[in-house]
Amino acid sequence: MKEQLEKIKEEAVRQIEASDALDRLNEIRVAYLGKKGELTGVLKGMKNVAPEDRPKVGQMVNEVREMIEAKLEETKQALAKKAREAQMKAEVIDVTLPARKANVGHRHPNTIALEELERIFTGMGYEVVEGPEIEYDEYNFTKLNIPEGHPAKDEQDTFYINKEIVLRTQTSPVQARTMEKGKLPIRMISPGRVFRSDEVDATHSPSFHQVEGLVIDRNITFADLKGTLAEFARELFGEDTKVKFRPHHFPFTEPSAEMDVSCFKCGGKGCRFCKGTGWIEILGCGMVHPHVLEMCGIDPEAYTGFAFGVGLERIALLKYEIDDMRLLYENDVRFLRQF
Ligand code: DAH
Repeated sequence: MKEQLEKIKEEAVRQIEASDALDRLNEIRVAYLGKKGELTGVLKGMKNVAPEDRPKVGQMVNEVREMIEAKLEETKQALAKKAREAQMKAEVIDVTLPARKANVGHRHPNTIALEELERIFTGMGYEVVEGPEIEYDEYNFTKLNIPEGHPAKDEQDTFYINKEIVLRTQTSPVQARTMEKGKLPIRMISPGRVFRSDEVDATHSPSFHQVEGLVIDRNITFADLKGTLAEFARELFGEDTKVKFRPHHFPFTEPSAEMDVSCFKCGGKGCRFCKGTGWIEILGCGMVHPHVLEMCGIDPEAYTGFAFGVGLERIALLKYEIDDMRLLYENDVRFLRQF
């Protein structure tokens, strides 16, 4: 019995010392100390030992068990330490390396221009409202005094979904939608995407953006329109900016005008930027046509108002001196980062 125990001990120690992984140690533990392990087997054989020898044999078994357990624990600690050291070595962090730069995004020139417009108009008490990009022909045209067969409809030759529904060609339908709500007075701007079946070139795109403006109240006159838009121009292009209104025609305003600003490049003397004229056209505007007010449920005898429409890309191109609209849609960060 003693020899057998001695042999078990030696073999266990040999195996433990030869193991190179924690898993292997576990296997050894099970093989010797487990329920079906070798040492347990010896205890089970106790019934064959003479009763007077049993305490002595029992003690020997316990000594061998303790010895194996101690050896297992010691080897386990050593292996764990080795593993930790190897990991530390593998995961060395060089704190002297330069940090990796975080790539921060950049607002698009259109967005910068839009936020500037919104800042100016909300500063004057305007609300920002939105309208649908897919619009009824009725709102895009009819309610804006552009009936079936009107030449203005041809000019905006557009994308139809079906006979009644179009991709809106202008943000002006939001005027009709806002007036129909019946909440007066109105002081709103409405930015958004519009669509026309135009060929792409340096100044055209089948999809671009406008910002619509509408004011309806009692006693609104053309003087209010001029004052408001002149202030807008000064805020956008600088203190010294002058404005000029040229008569024009829009079906939904009467009278109608186009507004020019004095060239902010040459101060009005005439340069390449303003094609020698000293002026740059920036928007269309006018007094809301009484017929439009009526169609939208507002009494033209009690209320008057003015409206305007700005091309957002045009503002962005002018303000940042970009000479080709296509650059705005190519999403080349090297270009976009400059603004
Ligand atoms: N909707 C016009 C266009 O796309 C622009 C415009 C002109 C809007 C005059 C207006 C306005 O509100 O009063 O050409």
